[in-house]
Amino acid sequence: MGAPTEEASTETAKHSETDTVNDATVINKTTKTQKPTTHRIALGDVTNNNLGQLKRLNIVLFPVSYSEKFYKDVLEVGEFAKLAYFNDICVGAVCCRRESIPNTSPEQAKLYIMTLGVLAPYRNLGIGTALLEHILHHATSGTTNRQKFTEIYLHVQVSNEEALAFYKKYDFEIVGTVEGYYKKISPSNAYVLSRKLVKNQDI
Ligand SMILES: CC(C)(COP(=O)(O)OP(=O)(O)OC[C@H]1O[C@@H](n2cnc3c(N)ncnc32)[C@H](O)[C@@H]1OP(=O)(O)O)[C@@H](O)C(=O)NCCC(=O)NCCS
Repeated sequence: MGAPTEEASTETAKHSETDTVNDATVINKTTKTQKPTTHRIALGDVTNNNLGQLKRLNIVLFPVSYSEKFYKDVLEVGEFAKLAYFNDICVGAVCCRRESIPNTSPEQAKLYIMTLGVLAPYRNLGIGTALLEHILHHATSGTTNRQKFTEIYLHVQVSNEEALAFYKKYDFEIVGTVEGYYKKISPSNAYVLSRKLVKNQDI
């Protein structure tokens, strides 16, 4: 989807280098100028019980509203929808969908990032990276299902420099522009960002 946030707070948490990044944990490395701090980043499943949490996050993070079907589908995508917690506070989420590719074998698919966002005060702490790495891992590991994901892609509003910098860092490329993609927000144009995927066993 890709869009600037509308939170009242624009405070940005200070970036810290990380020692360890996996699906669940980031431990801060302290710098000379910082007091020692430790925080914990964890990812959790989206379930019927916390779906309201995801809806509230998306309302704050994105200037478009998502349908009940969006949330129903999110409950079916397994590892491709996750909530992110910073010291047990829910601060971010990613929601993807699988898309089949016409005229190819049924197991070939693309992964579309519908939403990926982190509340503004918790940005630049590696939480967006943890969410993206999680879905990249599951799209390429072959452990989630038998599907072979050949590509991961998304739309980003052309003015969303923060998101463009984030995705470019992770080797996404602009492969197109869709004029008038957004109906109710300006600018209405979206870039299509894409990254080709290779299964681990193919590397
Ligand atoms: C894009 C977004 C998810 C990034 O989340 P995040 O938790 O801040 O990302 P990270 O802390 O993991 O940042 C990783 C890297 O992205 C790049 N990056 C992130 N924000 C950046 C910014 N504002 N300017 C430049 N680079 C940025 C940096 O290279 C950063 O690495 P570094 O800290 O080592 O320099 C977040 O800005 C966001 O939620 N934006 C609003 C929602 C949105 O537009 N989503 C994208 C479309 S679905």
